[in-house]
Amino acid sequence: MKILVIGSGGREHALLWKLAQSPRVTELICAPGNAGTAAFAINHPVAASDLPGLLALAKSEQVDLTLVGPDDPLAAGIVDLFQKEGLRVFGPVVAAARLESSKSFAKEFMIRHGIPTAASATFSNPEAALTHCANASYPMVVKADGLALGKGVVIAHTQGEAEAAIREIMIEKIFGEAGDTVVIEEFLTGPECSLHALIDGKNYLLFPDAKDHKRALEGDQGLNTGGMGTISPSGVVGTAMQERLKREVLEPFVKGLSADNLPFQGMLFPGLMMTPTGPKVLEFNCRFGDPETQSLMRRLKSDLLDLIDATIDGKLSETTPVWDERVAVCIVLASGGYPGPIEKNKVITGIEEASVDPDVVVFHAGTTLKDGQVFTSGGRVLGITALGSTLEEARKKAYAAADKIAFEGKQLRRDIGA
Ligand code: AMP
Ligand code: GLY
Repeated sequence: MKILVIGSGGREHALLWKLAQSPRVTELICAPGNAGTAAFAINHPVAASDLPGLLALAKSEQVDLTLVGPDDPLAAGIVDLFQKEGLRVFGPVVAAARLESSKSFAKEFMIRHGIPTAASATFSNPEAALTHCANASYPMVVKADGLALGKGVVIAHTQGEAEAAIREIMIEKIFGEAGDTVVIEEFLTGPECSLHALIDGKNYLLFPDAKDHKRALEGDQGLNTGGMGTISPSGVVGTAMQERLKREVLEPFVKGLSADNLPFQGMLFPGLMMTPTGPKVLEFNCRFGDPETQSLMRRLKSDLLDLIDATIDGKLSETTPVWDERVAVCIVLASGGYPGPIEKNKVITGIEEASVDPDVVVFHAGTTLKDGQVFTSGGRVLGITALGSTLEEARKKAYAAADKIAFEGKQLRRDIGA
């Protein structure tokens, strides 16, 4: 089978790395890819946002299957477009991808189907949102309704901060039309975790849980990022909690899809908070997480292509993947300044030395190849993954490998999984 993977992050490198192990895969291509994906796939310089370009690529390359990595092309309707042309594609159609691309739509879905989530109110009128702030208790959470590169959530500690967030999002439109509507939410506390479950429309297949580290700096300080590192398992979901999450989140989710006639096929990745009163869904993502996928693919022993096929063909109930019992850790190496403005084109050394340990795999994100040398080209540059029989062992291996890699401005958190 010839497969196209869309995207250029560590997630896409990890998916390609895993697909390359499938005996059924004959050829892999990636758009646009990075220096790491080039080792498994032929990179084509078509942006993940260029839907007509991607369609033309899939047709001219005669691919048998397309996997969509990032959220933007899903929200723009790439799956609908490919399906209309008779192409096989993994991911939800735009109507279902709204569960990620509209937080108010996701809230309504959760309320309608009894999925636990923070109490909230939705506003499309800035004056009404500002009035709400005057009567709210603090802290509270202001969220832009649409996709905002992971930056659309503000924890407001005072009325002034909440009003400033509403002005920026709804009046100054710093996230464009993603801020036409805001969801204002009760502030929750507790450890967070990432769930991943394949959804074939009727059934779900739960992956092991993972934990992301979203803030830029150690001790969960600094700005929110796309994710600075993950561990799997998360350490906050025992067997009883896993059963509870199936009962309270995943079963109502698939029942809700049927009730609402939403044809969801793809990956559902709920962000959860384990609050003192039980687990609550912070958000739905309708794709693989990044950098959760890097840790999860290290633990998946079964053929990823079989899981993708079972999802598209509605056969998840017949599928039981095998997982490595060991702990996986992924440490993100980022460019200096990330998640703010960064400098690119710094030469990267040490990737081969870091990969000598057989338990270590280095996934590329913002990297590019020039004359056989790897340079930085984005905020998150590499994801160093390691497996260990304990969390401590996996962390030790991952950090030892991370320390062998050098580039100007290299930034990492030393407390991933600590
Ligand atoms: P989201 O994009 O909705 O996952 O939000 C990004 C981050 O904001 C989450 O990972 C949480 O750390 C935080 N967050 C979101 N919603 C809430 C909430 N209701 N209470 C407290 N923190 C939240
Ligand atoms: N790691 C969080 C995300 O992929 O949204």
